[in-house]
Amino acid sequence: AAVDLADEDYQLNGFPDFMRKEIHDQTRAGHRALRGRLDERFATARLDGLGLDARELRAVRRVKFLGCGSAYYAGQLGANLVEELARLPADAEPASEFRYRNPVIEEGTLYVAVSQSGETLDTLAAVQELKRKGGQVVGLVNAVGSAIARECGSGVFLHAGPEVSVASTKAVTNMSLSFALLALLLGRVRDLSMAHGRRLVAALAAIPDRITDVLAAEEQAIAAAERYAGTEHMFFVGRVRGWPVAREGAQKLKEISYVHAEAYEAAELKHGPLALIDHTMPSVVIVPDDELLAKNIGTIEQIRARNGPVIAITNADLPEGLAETVIRLPRGEPELDPILFTVPLQLFAYHLATALGRNVDKPRNLAKSVTVE
Ligand code: AGP
Repeated sequence: AAVDLADEDYQLNGFPDFMRKEIHDQTRAGHRALRGRLDERFATARLDGLGLDARELRAVRRVKFLGCGSAYYAGQLGANLVEELARLPADAEPASEFRYRNPVIEEGTLYVAVSQSGETLDTLAAVQELKRKGGQVVGLVNAVGSAIARECGSGVFLHAGPEVSVASTKAVTNMSLSFALLALLLGRVRDLSMAHGRRLVAALAAIPDRITDVLAAEEQAIAAAERYAGTEHMFFVGRVRGWPVAREGAQKLKEISYVHAEAYEAAELKHGPLALIDHTMPSVVIVPDDELLAKNIGTIEQIRARNGPVIAITNADLPEGLAETVIRLPRGEPELDPILFTVPLQLFAYHLATALGRNVDKPRNLAKSVTVE
């Protein structure tokens, strides 16, 4: 369909730019991602667009997410959710790598092509290669009628609404919400109990409104961004559930601020990059209130011992003075909390980039959808 530029999705409506507007649209967008898809009675998800019945869902032995950039990082978060909730092996790979390495296409693997635009050439080519070789592929796409949606033929629409800013925000959040639905559905035809399913359904339903709470506390991200706006390099550190979150946080910062940001798995720091830590190298550390909290506190102590400034993004009660800067989030269910953690990182990148006077909607050298090699 032709784009109707009078549509309010294409108007700034009082916001200074589309990125800010789209960050603030995430509550509405999140509600749309979940609408009609949570089944409270059976404590599961309904994703009819997948076209898979319970027997076919049980036949899935492995799940592989394919996408580029933020869609790939979101896919990593999705893989974690599928492993945790459905206890199925799952991973994510950049679609560009997959298409060129002559992958082994396994029976029983559900391939999920992830894309906001539905037009990313590498992701489309990966889907075509999969189909040629008999792989089972579904799409997780925002743009209805796009090339990837059509090529896949079945899947889940993200319903984020049009995204104008080059930096993806609300589409990424809706990807994560959709992965949680998929993981819940795959889990409930396997070992995931009714009681656990109920908790997850309630927690998922609450996420859009919890995004409002995070946005209401935007001042925390503004203060942190202003404090570190002069820095040239930054680490983003996370482990397990926090690892894809850290990667997405680094991606957002480099994309729109041109500050060098590198994501690292927390425990990998000591195998090399710790050598880079001093007072000029701040680290954003993802600290969920989960069973790895003590480990993440240890990571912060390691960084602080080398005089590295730390910005902790956390929903835990951290020891007083542990981190120089703390951005606090509300608590939910630990499995689903990573979805929310991405939002303050979007705000942090946004405010740091605007403090530097960058054009956040149209960063240099980048296009909204990459339809070339
Ligand atoms: C996200 O902020 C980036 N602009 C980029 O990494 C993007 O996610 C990637 O190009 C994939 O785009 P798609 O979701 O439209 O396929």
